[in-house]
Amino acid sequence: MLTARIAVLVSGGGTNLQALLDSQARGALKSGEIALVIADKPGAGAIARAERAHVPCAVIPRREAGFEERVLAALAEHKIDMAVLAGFLGILSGDFIDRFPGPIINIHPALIPSFCGKGFYGLGVHRAALDCGVKVTGATVHYVNAIPDGGRIIAQKAVDVLPGDTPETLQRRVMEQAEWILLPQAAEQVAAGIAEEKEKKL
Ligand code: GRF
Repeated sequence: MLTARIAVLVSGGGTNLQALLDSQARGALKSGEIALVIADKPGAGAIARAERAHVPCAVIPRREAGFEERVLAALAEHKIDMAVLAGFLGILSGDFIDRFPGPIINIHPALIPSFCGKGFYGLGVHRAALDCGVKVTGATVHYVNAIPDGGRIIAQKAVDVLPGDTPETLQRRVMEQAEWILLPQAAEQVAAGIAEEKEKKL
């Protein structure tokens, strides 16, 4: 069966990348194959996760000139069909999104439209949720467009906020109970559509 070639873009520890790799290993990511990891931060923990899984990994520092050109070149060289932003902290320009022919999806650690957009990432998202006193938060997978966290929503999963939660305990629960479940499911859903299109073109 034809599959979608997936690139995962990372910046940090790579727990969402690991969830994707584990999903692939147990046969749950059956319509896609993780063909490339791109880390925009040298030394990111996600790099070691890619190496352990024997997935090609390109380190392209975000701060270096020509970052987007180099990422686009790597995606083309590896014949990538879709990109997954997994703990990726870079903001991709509208020009990049227009020039990459496939879909790009992102996992955000809140229920969009809450606690999202410019400046909302990492622990800050959970700090904002706690400051607001919400009783439920969660994670969202959405398509990426030129507006930070602005693309069409693909899937969401809710998580309870518990008394005494800190940003750290809440982040952990959202990762365990929402992100690591939702992202592989959404990646499979999008990959299945691409694989189907590939089959039709045969
Ligand atoms: C975490 O804040 C997670 O909620 C968000 O990105 C950060 C790191 O994720 N999605 P990862 O461990 O690098 O996947």
